[in-house]
Amino acid sequence: MIMAPVCPVMELPIGGRVIRVVAGKSIGLFNVGGRIVAIQNICPHELAPVCLGKVQGTTAPGAVGQWTYHRDGEFLICPWHGWEFDLLTGDCLTDARKLKHFETTVMDGWVHVLM
Ligand code: FES
Repeated sequence: MIMAPVCPVMELPIGGRVIRVVAGKSIGLFNVGGRIVAIQNICPHELAPVCLGKVQGTTAPGAVGQWTYHRDGEFLICPWHGWEFDLLTGDCLTDARKLKHFETTVMDGWVHVLM
């Protein structure tokens, strides 16, 4: 395992996204409400570059026949078939397959990813 510097933390403001190749793997870094998340840029469905997808919230059930939009900026939508993934957990909302996460830390102003 290596702890690789990936990008200056200044390049990742809240809501920001950076995609880099680290140790031969394409990795997407997202600042989700102040928490930096690193995921492999491969969708577990059919291998799309999932980190290029839209980031948004999702709906939660409310009263009968009603839905509430919540958790804006915490879900990644795959650009190929629209699967929704929780950026914080990697869970897919409609399937058991998950995004691959990597541990991150900030040292000396740089985001590092444990590979
Ligand atoms: S490849 Fe991502 S949803 Fe199909």
